[in-house]
Amino acid sequence: MENVIQLLGMIGEYKDTETAKHVLRVGKISRILALGAGLPADLAYMLEKAAPLHDIGKVGIPDRILLKQGPLDEEEMSIMKQHTEHGYNLLSGNDALVIQLARSIAATHHERWDGNGYLRGLSGESIPIEGRITSVADVFDALVSERPYKKAWSYEEATDYIVKESGKAFDPNLILIFQQHLDDIIQIQKDLAD
Ligand SMILES: [Fe+2]
Ligand SMILES: [Fe+2]
Repeated sequence: MENVIQLLGMIGEYKDTETAKHVLRVGKISRILALGAGLPADLAYMLEKAAPLHDIGKVGIPDRILLKQGPLDEEEMSIMKQHTEHGYNLLSGNDALVIQLARSIAATHHERWDGNGYLRGLSGESIPIEGRITSVADVFDALVSERPYKKAWSYEEATDYIVKESGKAFDPNLILIFQQHLDDIIQIQKDLAD
């Protein structure tokens, strides 16, 4: 079951510019944040397995948009944002807890604490904790990773950015936990480098 879930996460990123290791790192960073937030160990473990599916809905995005070089126009962006909804739909109708968590994460990992995210524009604690956690892990890992359209940021630059977004993009409590566990998070980055 675990391997199948991991495989699904890789399928979600396969055509995209992100990597298989990105999704694994996001899972491990999410577990650290979950434990720091006081979630039970078994739930934090499930979150590690579920978070790699955050972008599974990208399989529903047309290649002309998913693979486009350069910035997306407004219409393309609104189609791209639907990857959250596709993920939610794909992961529906399964009562395994890990899949339910993954479904919630797929739907909410681009929501923002201040309510300016997507897909629903949820804010604060109305965003499920698993979505809030994965969002921090996903953004941090994306910033410190090299992508075709950007260089890797240094850990310091990325951390400054994450901290600056506390209370804007991110749950302030989770950012405190992020700062407390920064060494462990950076270690994951190094152990699972691309
Ligand atoms: Fe996403
Ligand atoms: Fe991601």
